[in-house]
Amino acid sequence: MDGNGRWAKQRGLPRVEGHRRGVEAVRSTIETARDFGIEYLTLYAFSVENWRRPEEEVGALMNLLEYFLKRETSTLISNKVRLRTIGRTQDLPAKVRRELERTVGATAHFTEHTLVLALNYGSRTEVLDAVQSYAAAVQTGEVDLHDTSWTTFARHLYTADLPDPDLVIRTSGETRVSNFLLLQAAYAEFVFLPIFWPDFSRAEFAAAVTEFNRRERRFGRTGEQLAPTVPAISGTG
Ligand code: FPP
Repeated sequence: MDGNGRWAKQRGLPRVEGHRRGVEAVRSTIETARDFGIEYLTLYAFSVENWRRPEEEVGALMNLLEYFLKRETSTLISNKVRLRTIGRTQDLPAKVRRELERTVGATAHFTEHTLVLALNYGSRTEVLDAVQSYAAAVQTGEVDLHDTSWTTFARHLYTADLPDPDLVIRTSGETRVSNFLLLQAAYAEFVFLPIFWPDFSRAEFAAAVTEFNRRERRFGRTGEQLAPTVPAISGTG
């Protein structure tokens, strides 16, 4: 969700106004994802690196998160959307943690749609946390050190019970991954949009999905292997 700051700057507004408008785009994107039948929507809302921003901006982002959770929980419930988080949420301010726990608890039973908020998230810290958890599992004998399967290791990632993303969209014209789901997006399709996050609309979302549907996903295979085999037509006349 990149470009809130530049969106505001372009209009001579403070950066926090961009984030405020960003929250409106968050609300409409959740609704659109649900309408499009997308089962899992992950939003990169705060990275481990974002603590480096001015204290005032970090504070404003935390307030917006709290406000969003307070205001949107009833909508998530009526739309049957489950809220999950990935990241070191234990290091977020208590008021945000409290709201997160409340919303996650109130929506835990929904199964059709999941909204995942990446909060205090970074792929590298995720790997470090996963390695620690994996090592502990080896120590207790729960995992065999010689079992080197990806599936076994992936059970220790924050996303253990979530599918890998099919499509990653980044707004603002930047073409970086910025420590986001580096392992899980191994086979994801990427769409980079030249618009700022507050301008990410239903039409932009639809266009990104159309682009995704145009891509041929080979997962290591050849195009020929994927081509539908046309049954040979034989006839006697
Ligand atoms: C990146 O844009 C955006 C962020 C670091 C914060 C995203 C947060 C929100 C949209 C609001 C809170 C989230 C939820 C889920 C309610 P930027 O500020 O880095 O933009 P810039 O690169 O133009 O400065």
